[in-house]
Order: sequence, then C-alpha cells, then structure tokens
Amino acid sequence: MSACVVSPEQLQAYLATAVALAKEVGPVFKDGFWRTGQFATGNDFAAIDKMGNEADCVTAVDCHIEKVIFSRLREIYPEHKFVGEETTAEIGNKYKVTDDPTWVVDPVDGTNNFVHHFPYTGISIGLTINKEPVVGVIYLPVLDELYTAAKGLGAQLNGQSLPIFSFPTLTTPTSLSQCSMVSEHGSLRSESCIKSRLDTFKRLLLERDQGGASIRNLRFTGSAASDLALVAKGVAEIYWETGPHAWDYAAGVIIVLESGGAVFDGSGWWGSSIPDDEKSPQPLNIWNRKILAVRHMPDLIGKPGSGCQIQKHLAAAVLNLVEDNPYEPDGSH
Ligand code: IPD
Repeated sequence: MSACVVSPEQLQAYLATAVALAKEVGPVFKDGFWRTGQFATGNDFAAIDKMGNEADCVTAVDCHIEKVIFSRLREIYPEHKFVGEETTAEIGNKYKVTDDPTWVVDPVDGTNNFVHHFPYTGISIGLTINKEPVVGVIYLPVLDELYTAAKGLGAQLNGQSLPIFSFPTLTTPTSLSQCSMVSEHGSLRSESCIKSRLDTFKRLLLERDQGGASIRNLRFTGSAASDLALVAKGVAEIYWETGPHAWDYAAGVIIVLESGGAVFDGSGWWGSSIPDDEKSPQPLNIWNRKILAVRHMPDLIGKPGSGCQIQKHLAAAVLNLVEDNPYEPDGSH
C-alpha cells in the first residue's frame, strides 16, 4: 500500500478534533481522580488489578474515557484505525500496525497516580500516519496543562510555544552530570527485571570516577506521557524507558519533536558486543517499546548545529549505561 500523504490543514483539523475530545473528557477524568480509590470496591471508582499484578491497574474511568474518545472518532473518521490501551487489553496484542491514520490513545496514562491522587496523570491522544506520530495531545487535567503538537506546526503548552524557556534560561548541558532525567521503574517486578533496572539507575547515579554518570537527578513521575511533557517543556533533559506501549508515548513523541527535542530507540548498549565505533543512537520505532528522548538544546554560541550534536552525544552517553530488556513489540507488523 502506498504511504499516506496529509496536508498541514488536515493535520490542523485532526489536532483540533483531538483537543476538543481531550477537553470533553477532562471533567470526567477530574471527577474520577478525586473519587477513585484502591478500596472503593463495588462502585465505578474501584481500581482493578490487571492480570493479578497490583502494580498495573485499570479503573472504570479508563474504560469510559476510551469508549467516549473512540466512539466520537469513529463517527468523524470511520475509515481510520484505533489502538487504545483498554481495547487492546480486551483483545490482546492482536492488531496489525499499518500506514493508515491510526488513533493511539491512553485514556488515563499514569493509572497508579490516578488511583493515588498524584497529579501527574492524564489523557494521551496520538495520531500516527505511516506508523509515525503526526498529531499529539496530552491533557493533564489536574495540573490544568494541555500539551499539543502536529507535525511541522510546532508544539504548545496551553497555547504557549514549547519549550517554555529559551536561551539564556535554557542552556545546553554537555554532560549527563548537568542533566535532570526522568525514567520509570515499570510494573514488572521479577528479580531479573528489578535487578536490571536498579543496576541501570545505579550506573546513571554513581560518581564519575567510579564509572557512573553522576547524573544530576533521576525522577519518576509514574506517567510516560507526563515524562515526555516535561522534556518538551524543557524542565527535564532526558527521558528513557523500556516497556511502555505506543499509547503511552505516541502523543508525547510528536510533542517532544515539535518542541525541538530528539527521540531515539531506547535499546541500551550495556553488556552488548557492539563495537564502540558502531555505537550511534538509532531512530525510534514507536511500536518497539523502548524510548529515549532528549529536550531541545540551543546551539552553543558561534556553533550552528551544535545543539543537535549534543542531543546525540547525551543520548549515546545514556545508551552506554542502560540495559536492554526484551519486550514484545506492540501489534503485528
Ligand atoms: C504506564 C505509565 C508508567 C510506565 C508504564 C505505563 P498506564 O501507563 O506510563 O509511567 O512506566 O510503562 O504502562 O498503565 O498508567 O496507562
């Protein structure tokens, strides 16, 4: 099938639809945020464990919001495809990833935060065309932050261009020790998984003369969409995670890119046999569940193009320290 072509006007229209939908479901989200609880059993606001894993849960609000968003989108764009966290949970990983316009939606990203009333949780609506994100909306209703972007049309937070800072407030770090990083520990709690995460975080934090990166700080918001929003905003330099799904970050990826940030494949090189001269950060495939994002870096004075070089340099420095983990890709290809 030939690749889909889309005009800026059409992208703008898709973005307007996604914004309207996020705003429509915002009040239900906010209401649910204050009423949902781990022990609110027997009503619509209970948190239900997914597959017996208490670290991964779903609420009726997740399902309701996804239904509303998809039913509206199906009315407007009957020919489009749809991938949503809760729909996919019902049918399993049995959908085909195609070049067609595909709405990739997480109705509540950061469900654990939602259940624990921690405000980094929101609605993530992405649209992919030719398998890549072209429109993204992340709405964090409790923080009242609406992040929006469309390919070639820039990225905004509540209408203000991203990143919200610029030079000289936003400077360009040259090493990880000057960077603030966001990551996640994920919901898999096996011995091997936790060991690999902790070893990775240890190397990132450890002093440089002991082989680490002495990264300035490492934070976990509990929401991949929020992590990417922080990178686009310019308040976190780097986000790395393996394991999240396309619906967690499809929207965030285009928001980061349109804010001047860069995204890469997050497969780590620690313990790999790749020779040093072949180590170069690879393009991100959003269906592969391994992501590394670096915020916009202003060029150094008198050095055009240096910002992009530094993004790659920082990405390589992270990939050198993080471990790869096997994850089944999203969908079939
Ligand atoms: C999760 C969050 C979390 C990330 C997980 C995601 P959910 O999304 O984004 O930060 O570590 O990989 O699954 O399940 O709360 O929508």
